[in-house]
Amino acid sequence: MQESLEPPVRILFVCLGNICRSPSAEGVIASMIEKQGLADQIKVDSAGTAAWHIGKSADPRAMDRARARGFNMSGLKARQVSEDDFDQFDYILAMDSDNLAELTQLQPPHFGGHLGLLLDFLPQGSELNKYAEVPDPYYGGDSGFDLVLDLIEAAGANLISMVQQRLS
Ligand code: 4NP
Repeated sequence: MQESLEPPVRILFVCLGNICRSPSAEGVIASMIEKQGLADQIKVDSAGTAAWHIGKSADPRAMDRARARGFNMSGLKARQVSEDDFDQFDYILAMDSDNLAELTQLQPPHFGGHLGLLLDFLPQGSELNKYAEVPDPYYGGDSGFDLVLDLIEAAGANLISMVQQRLS
């Protein structure tokens, strides 16, 4: 890899299967970064703690609900997180505390980045602050996928502006 050509800030979103929540975060937040002209500054990716869905596209329900808001997730393929990701990313953001516990086990001692929950970046004073984690929508209906997108859009906008402040 040509390190010098990498954007200065690299963010990895992690859930369980990498077919619902974390690819939604990748697709939505990549689009927000692109629209703000920051694609050469911030790179995003996603992965799952489980190996079950490696190589699969995002869940069609997640893609449908994202498409309804103008976000395209069709090119994303699931992969499993690995210890190597701790050398590739500055921020590793989990969707829930189970994912975070798995990542904490995997984290090498030399990791100097930020490992935490995506929803730690929710702006204060939002009605969404009652959520500390992005709820797993896999066994539920469409409303769960819409809530995932609401949470990702709110936390993602704040995450981007905090990273931008760090860069400037
Ligand atoms: P995700 O959702 O972690 O948001 O991708 C899930 C996807 C698949 C399964 C569970 C959660 N599963 O049990 O296969």
